[in-house]
Amino acid sequence: MDRLRVGVVGLGGNGRAFVRGYELSDLCDLVAVCDLNPVRVDEAAAEVCGGPQKYTDLERMLDSANLDALSVHTPDHLHADPFIAGLQAGCHVLVEKPMGNTIADLERMTAAARASDRKTLVGHILRFNPIYAEVHRRCADGDLGDVFYLEADYFHDLKRQAEPERTNPFIGGVNWWLEHEKVIVGGGAHQFDLLRWYANAHAVEVTGYGNSIAFPEMKHPDCMCAVFKLASGAVAKVGAAYGVVGPRPEWMNLEVYGTKGTVRNAQLITGDHADPTIEDLGVEYSGHPFQPEIAHFLQSIIDDTPTLVDAFEGANSAAATIMACESIEADGKPMAVPYFQR
Ligand SMILES: NC(=O)c1ccc[n+]([C@@H]2O[C@H](COP(=O)([O-])OP(=O)(O)OC[C@H]3O[C@@H](n4cnc5c(N)ncnc54)[C@H](O)[C@@H]3O)[C@@H](O)[C@H]2O)c1
Repeated sequence: MDRLRVGVVGLGGNGRAFVRGYELSDLCDLVAVCDLNPVRVDEAAAEVCGGPQKYTDLERMLDSANLDALSVHTPDHLHADPFIAGLQAGCHVLVEKPMGNTIADLERMTAAARASDRKTLVGHILRFNPIYAEVHRRCADGDLGDVFYLEADYFHDLKRQAEPERTNPFIGGVNWWLEHEKVIVGGGAHQFDLLRWYANAHAVEVTGYGNSIAFPEMKHPDCMCAVFKLASGAVAKVGAAYGVVGPRPEWMNLEVYGTKGTVRNAQLITGDHADPTIEDLGVEYSGHPFQPEIAHFLQSIIDDTPTLVDAFEGANSAAATIMACESIEADGKPMAVPYFQR
């Protein structure tokens, strides 16, 4: 098969990382880049050999660049329209996590995925991190027995997101991180997606609490904590906070408890509590594995194989965290979580 023709839309820090990633891949040619901001378009294009086509209008890029695949890196609350437009134009589509940050957007996006035969991949990059993939392998192989409780946190000092230069005149003059980001959706969905993957179950109900003490510039609470009831009967807890002092914990406090074993960060613990066997999972932590994620997306298209996190998987991870926010708004009232199926 010829190299795939890829276009990237949304050229902030994340989109630019993907521009560099596609540029390095042997499986594709990055033929077009798009942002509402023409300066970002020029800067991104300058990083690509051969000079990609440059666009400030996604519809025009989809009409004229003859793309096989579209990669969507717009802000969290602006994922739905480019994702749907890409599928409707016949492209395979990678969209950053969280897939959407409202249930209405997830409904529109999954409807578009259902109506399409193209591949979708939601950018839950932690699944491509060797240590987190190894924990999944151990869960799937039954080394932990029946999983009954899981927890992980997304704790970060992200107060720099209030910097005035982050206000984007091309999206209505807002700083989207302050106005639209929900910490348990934008950040915590990374962790919740892992926990759901390990438990092999979706969430059916969630209850949560939050506050706006540490980073009150955010419109939504900057500290959120939620407990999820999973369809398997397991219970999961995710904390997310952006006003943390100091570096984030390297392992994001991952704990998975099963009837035969426990995972605490990079260790698998089995045996008797008085004489446990502690196995180092032995896989190095690696930060943001964009390259394996990109390779997986492109190879899935070439081989016509399922992606690791398609639109329905991505929607189920996002939906539970969105409903956690609804519960937090309602002062802890339990909320049912919708389930998305192909
Ligand atoms: N996977 C990860 O680890 C990771 C890390 C960082 C960010 N992200 C995600 O990546 C996405 C982008 O984050 P960012 O920090 O780069 O944001 P950003 O705001 O810096 O960049 C987004 C860009 O999209 C452009 N844009 C918005 N709507 C557009 C449209 N309709 N057409 C063309 N361009 C449009 C904006 O002008 C902006 O330049 C977010 O969803 C974020 O959550 C993921």
